[in-house]
Amino acid sequence: MTKTIQDMLKEQPSQASSSSNAQSIEYIDTVDAYDKWAEIYDTDGNFLQRLDTIEMRTLLPQFLNRVNARFHGTDPFKLVDLGCGTGRNTIQLLEAVSACEKNQKTSTQVTHRPSVEVIGVDASAGMLEVARTAIQSATRELNSTTVSLGTLNLLQTISDKSQLPESLQDGAVGVISTLVLEHIPLKAFFKAASAIMRPGAYFLVTNMHAQMGSLSQAGFTDPGTGVKIRPTSYCHSIADVLAAAAEAGFQVEPLEEECGGGEVLERTVDEELSGILGVRATKWIGIQVWFGVCFSKV
Ligand SMILES: C[S@@+](CC[C@H](N)C(=O)[O-])C[C@H]1O[C@@H](n2cnc3c(N)ncnc32)[C@H](O)[C@@H]1O
Repeated sequence: MTKTIQDMLKEQPSQASSSSNAQSIEYIDTVDAYDKWAEIYDTDGNFLQRLDTIEMRTLLPQFLNRVNARFHGTDPFKLVDLGCGTGRNTIQLLEAVSACEKNQKTSTQVTHRPSVEVIGVDASAGMLEVARTAIQSATRELNSTTVSLGTLNLLQTISDKSQLPESLQDGAVGVISTLVLEHIPLKAFFKAASAIMRPGAYFLVTNMHAQMGSLSQAGFTDPGTGVKIRPTSYCHSIADVLAAAAEAGFQVEPLEEECGGGEVLERTVDEELSGILGVRATKWIGIQVWFGVCFSKV
């Protein structure tokens, strides 16, 4: 069974105590933790989310271009944000779709535009509630793309499609999942993703880097009690992620030149980046903290 970060840190007490600064820590069920975190998730200065937002600005248009090139004309054209949380990247995805549609409107070659559906799913009702409000105010200014939110627990075994929300039963052409993999064993993560995707569909994944995961994990300070609340997290190395993806029938899609052109984009915090990401990033200078990779389902 995959070891949790909590178990790993217990075996390295010096690192556990330096990372916690003697603050008391409570480990709780992951979904309960996110239900509690939801209210302050977007505002508590988490630098990994900020970094992810910045990187997704470049990765999302590349991802959409690929999906459009392969699935142009597919109707319905479903895009899923797996573990959408408060909708941070669901909204970035909607903005990217909107920009893409504007470009297509000026193109004379396009004869048929399928309806685009963006679907955000998560296991936390609290996170989904925040997402609902955020998406409602964002979509007032965006296009007419259909957006819906639903509950899906990636840890529930999906043995046949009828167990999926109806909106996901006919297969997504593109799926994103950002900063979620940390909470899910690799096999379950890729199995669930595969179950909601059409063959050939693209899958853009970002996650906390294992170098950061060997020292810390997701969590927040409960404003009422001052206690650090932590969900269950796993420290997945890039090699393990790529191996599990391959085993589940995914292949890596090389990134474009502007993202380094390799298979996996990795980010280390340096002085300049820490200035952009805020005070909580300073202690991570010199550490690899984030990675992103795009797969397709074979
Ligand atoms: C760090 S947040 C990331 C949220 C969002 N994707 C983002 O990038 O801001 C992790 C998300 O994974 C969700 N999550 C954790 N375990 C899950 C599970 N078993 N099934 C579905 N979602 C889960 C949490 O509820 C939370 O919204």
